[in-house]
Amino acid sequence: MEELKKAVAREALKFVEDDMVIGLGTGSTAGYFIRYLGRLIMEEELQDVYAIPTSYQSRLLAIESGVPVVGLDEVDAIDVAVDGADEVDPNMNLIKGRGAALTMEKAIEYRAGTFLVLVDESKLVERLGQKMPVPIEVIPQVWRAVAEEVEIFNAEAELRMAARKDGPVVTENGNFILDVRFHRIADPLDLEMELNNIPGVVENGIFADVADVVLVGTREGVKRMER
Ligand code: 5RP
Repeated sequence: MEELKKAVAREALKFVEDDMVIGLGTGSTAGYFIRYLGRLIMEEELQDVYAIPTSYQSRLLAIESGVPVVGLDEVDAIDVAVDGADEVDPNMNLIKGRGAALTMEKAIEYRAGTFLVLVDESKLVERLGQKMPVPIEVIPQVWRAVAEEVEIFNAEAELRMAARKDGPVVTENGNFILDVRFHRIADPLDLEMELNNIPGVVENGIFADVADVVLVGTREGVKRMER
């Protein structure tokens, strides 16, 4: 799988040109892309490229790889955003947020001229929610209320617990994550909007109708899904 991720990350470099602002996603696949991008910049094969990270992870990696980092408030536009995903359905709707960076990812990626998604073939599903829960970022005070309120969608929520810290995961925005398993997601765009209407929900990990291109790493090579 790592080789497939590297192959799509290399292919993604074809979308980057001089003078571009690039949104940098979070996770292992986005990580390969950041390293390859840094290599091109260091070798001066790309000039005047600036990047906006979606997390501390991508910020640290960008700095370490020689990719100049800027803030969203310093640029007029984002040309291309590049990120991984946890699930991709046949209509290129996504579930994201395994890395708990979904809020900043969505803030950057929905504003990009082109949103490019990089996955290996194990991420393709017939229907969103088939393998992964939908992460929902909530302000800490309301986690329990929201966990109960999502039950009307025929779903069960679990508070995400940290691996190397006692207690819950705390996001870079100081919030909690609920991982919500839906029995059936019939309309991803509708559910994305409905979840964000629950008071205290900051953002959710359904990215419906927003990916422009998905590069899929397969054993037969990199395949492209496009609108
Ligand atoms: C982080 C994400 C990641 O993009 C997603 O989890 C995919 O990660 P990886 O490339 O490591 O499989 O949404 O919040």
